[in-house]
Amino acid sequence: MAFTWSVRNLVLSRRHVLAKLRDTTNSKRKRWVQHHALRRNPNDDFQLKRTLQPDFSFLVLGDTGEGDASQWVLVKKVVHEGKSTAFMIIASDVIYPAGRSKAYREKFYLPYQDYDHDIYAIPGNHDWYDELTGFMLHFCDARSHFRNFPRLKWHMEPNDLRKIRQNEIFQPNMYFYIDHPKIRIVCLDTGINHRIDGDQLDWLRTVSTGTQSKLLITGSPFYVDGERSKRHMDPVLKIVNDPSNGYIMVIAGNRHNFQAYRITPSTEAESKPVWHIVNGGGGASRRSTHKIPKADDMKLGNASKAQLREDTDFYCYPSSADSKAAKRQERLWRRVLPDALGRSDRPPYYKSFMKLEVDGNQLRAYAYGVKDFTRQEDLRSEPIWRLEGAEAISLSGPT
Ligand SMILES: [Fe+2]
Repeated sequence: MAFTWSVRNLVLSRRHVLAKLRDTTNSKRKRWVQHHALRRNPNDDFQLKRTLQPDFSFLVLGDTGEGDASQWVLVKKVVHEGKSTAFMIIASDVIYPAGRSKAYREKFYLPYQDYDHDIYAIPGNHDWYDELTGFMLHFCDARSHFRNFPRLKWHMEPNDLRKIRQNEIFQPNMYFYIDHPKIRIVCLDTGINHRIDGDQLDWLRTVSTGTQSKLLITGSPFYVDGERSKRHMDPVLKIVNDPSNGYIMVIAGNRHNFQAYRITPSTEAESKPVWHIVNGGGGASRRSTHKIPKADDMKLGNASKAQLREDTDFYCYPSSADSKAAKRQERLWRRVLPDALGRSDRPPYYKSFMKLEVDGNQLRAYAYGVKDFTRQEDLRSEPIWRLEGAEAISLSGPT
């Protein structure tokens, strides 16, 4: 199995170049919201309404959709760990390279057909390259949008695909939240260039108020490769860093590996640590970690660097040594190119995903990793990273 780029996909996937010159994602997102979500309910606050048990768990995968070995290598472990979960969220790049509806069978429905619970998602830049059409069709059931275009026969395709796997409920929008008495899960769409429009920012401010514990899931990390990201997300980080909003963790896709940073936003007494997780190892080609600086040398902006300790406050997968060794095994031309150009789609894959467990007043978090296609007994392997016991995060309900 190999990940391929057709000419049409190649053209569509060049949209990030156009988007650098003129990014129309925000206006397109607003149009989708007007045409789909708000047409059904003008007062919709985009809550994904579903019943959850007092104690529940869920999976978060990132950057899944290549449809090749680098996606499939993780699937058995995902299904194994996901048996008792309530749902899965895929955070960014559900379908490479260009989000097209036609690719959903191979890159979404078939890989996760044995996962028996709902799967929700937020789009990544690649899902936006077809103007979010495939994503809206499959996750938001936006078929009514296409009924006036009978020549677009593929818009009925989901009927067949839903025989492979079917959600109980569709999500209301490409950005939404899920509520539980102990935690609110806020899912954000950051488009092609890691920006959000004014309407989404207003919505985020509204759903972020109150000290109820919150988890943000986004396609764009604030801290990645040992640096504070220079992207256009400052207003969002300000909301996350405000202790009165109750954010405890951010999980982001986009970079194809696992990185965890415990960041204390400032030295002020009321400032509480927020875990910032890069969780993009769900299926796309591996990105190296061995060039990430040591915790002492990281450039984390205003964050309180003094409190970031190697191993306890920072962790990455693959480890620096494993990443270096894997790069050495690559063909020469791949070794000299940066990861983004020289794709690392061979074993060892070092793919990963997260499982989060709400238990009473605590949130436990785990990351699981898979190096290569596993035997049945390997499915019971231990997490590569965990927050449990004394490290579990205390949760607080709405005030
Ligand atoms: Fe990606």
